[in-house]
Amino acid sequence: MKPAPPPIPERRAAPIDWPALVAAARAAARRAYAPYSHYAVGAALLAEDGAVFSGCNVENASYGLTNCAERTALFKAVSEGRRRFRALAIAGGTPKAPAVPCGACRQALAEFCPPDLPVAVAPLRRGAPVVRALAEYLPHSFALRT
Ligand code: THU
Repeated sequence: MKPAPPPIPERRAAPIDWPALVAAARAAARRAYAPYSHYAVGAALLAEDGAVFSGCNVENASYGLTNCAERTALFKAVSEGRRRFRALAIAGGTPKAPAVPCGACRQALAEFCPPDLPVAVAPLRRGAPVVRALAEYLPHSFALRT
């Protein structure tokens, strides 16, 4: 009888450390450059390899040039060679109205993140995050498939 093949090692992803990811988003929000809106937002994006990329909103006197916290984090990650992500935390707003990603950021995230990416929105200072899938924020997202 043939010997049993060696067991396939389990490659279970480490659980997502939400408190750490929310803390990273809140720390990033403290670096927000928001002299026009006075609305600070932070984001922290967990890449598949475990690296965390944070970002804040960066406003501009020409208002439309403002970059949201989420896109800052995403573009930092992509420009550092990461294109696969496991989770996103956003910190901003109040417990009654935490910051949720704007439409532009939803589309930018959909370019790189799976529809089931868990997105946590947490109030700027304290309070529990609410986790929803990216697809709940952007159902039927536009994509070019070749
Ligand atoms: N903002 C973000 O950075 N992320 C969001 O999820 C919502 C809005 C920024 C853009 C602008 O600097 C300020 O918040 C007010 O809109």
